[in-house]
Amino acid sequence: MKALLLAGGLGTRLRPLTENLPKPMAPVGNRPWLEHVLLHLKRQGIDEFVIAVKHYPEIIKERLGDGRRLGVQIEYSVERSLLGTAGAIKNAESLLSDRFLVVNADIVHNMSILPLLEFHLQHKGLVTIGLTEVEDPSQYGVVQQDSTGEILCFIEKPKRNEAPSRRVNAGIYVMDKEALQWIPKNKEVSIEKETFPLLIEHRAVYGTKVDGYWMDMGTNERYRKVHWDLLDRKFPLPLNEIEQDTGIWVGEDTQIGSGVLFLPPVLIGDEVHIGDRSVIGPYAVIGDRCVIGKHVRCSETIMWDGCKVHDAAQLNNCIFGYDLELEARHILYQAVMNRMTGVVQG
Ligand code: GTP
Repeated sequence: MKALLLAGGLGTRLRPLTENLPKPMAPVGNRPWLEHVLLHLKRQGIDEFVIAVKHYPEIIKERLGDGRRLGVQIEYSVERSLLGTAGAIKNAESLLSDRFLVVNADIVHNMSILPLLEFHLQHKGLVTIGLTEVEDPSQYGVVQQDSTGEILCFIEKPKRNEAPSRRVNAGIYVMDKEALQWIPKNKEVSIEKETFPLLIEHRAVYGTKVDGYWMDMGTNERYRKVHWDLLDRKFPLPLNEIEQDTGIWVGEDTQIGSGVLFLPPVLIGDEVHIGDRSVIGPYAVIGDRCVIGKHVRCSETIMWDGCKVHDAAQLNNCIFGYDLELEARHILYQAVMNRMTGVVQG
């Protein structure tokens, strides 16, 4: 069975980090999330992928190519204009198998897909939606189901005490190709707002709970949360770095100056330089080849590969995109910055 990864959205809520980067290529634990998705699904026996791309497709193609480096096979479905989450699936139709998996590539998860497939084989519907249980359903569209698992409707943002369940669409589906007849060609169509309601009317949509970690990384706040969960190992994503001491992961060829203090949890990538007497952590993720000066303080901060932070800077609660350079003695709190677009607070 092939998996179709939806990776073409603009990622507007994660700007400026996604200004010139597809959101699923944002690193999680120092590696593009999309790469983690491929490896996670490969571990579950899926090795044929179609990636639906639109926003900066060349960045995805350059990094992942035909997939050989990761031991998988990748084809691309390229959109000329944004087609939305259903339009993108329709656009990829000729590349898909009779039954296929669809994954929103910006959902950070470690879910097992086998229960989803098994459930799909047990009913007569055309779609099985993976459902995840959330604490507060009032922020989401929750499902109402009957005892067979058929989805009767989605109820958008219900009040806490009026929600029929705490189950929401996890952004992972098994679909039969037959379902694609309900999606018009070359038109922007949303699967959540248009296709699912139509298919629900035709009694073709079922849902089942999938267990495991789940987080939509679409906002700065949730992107941070994914990292803190990763460092706390609530999200036990496999990491390339070695855990040298409890909660301190360090990559290869990293040079650490004298008197540097790591306050766990911290994740430091490969070929990083950290100057004397800097204090890193708690909650810091430093990408590969970052250079950090002397006497820097850096906590609750995520730095992508290639950043330079000069001496005595103080950083708290920041996210820096690739190759950002920060002057000496800069004090930043809650800044989200990209080399091209500058600072945004949030
Ligand atoms: P926002 O602009 O912040 O809402 O983000 P988004 O539109 O990129 O993401 P959203 O959460 O709305 O979409 C879920 C997934 O579908 C993400 O992985 C997107 O990359 C992907 N996606 C959304 N729209 C399209 C599209 O038009 N084409 C393709 N190929 N993928 C899409």
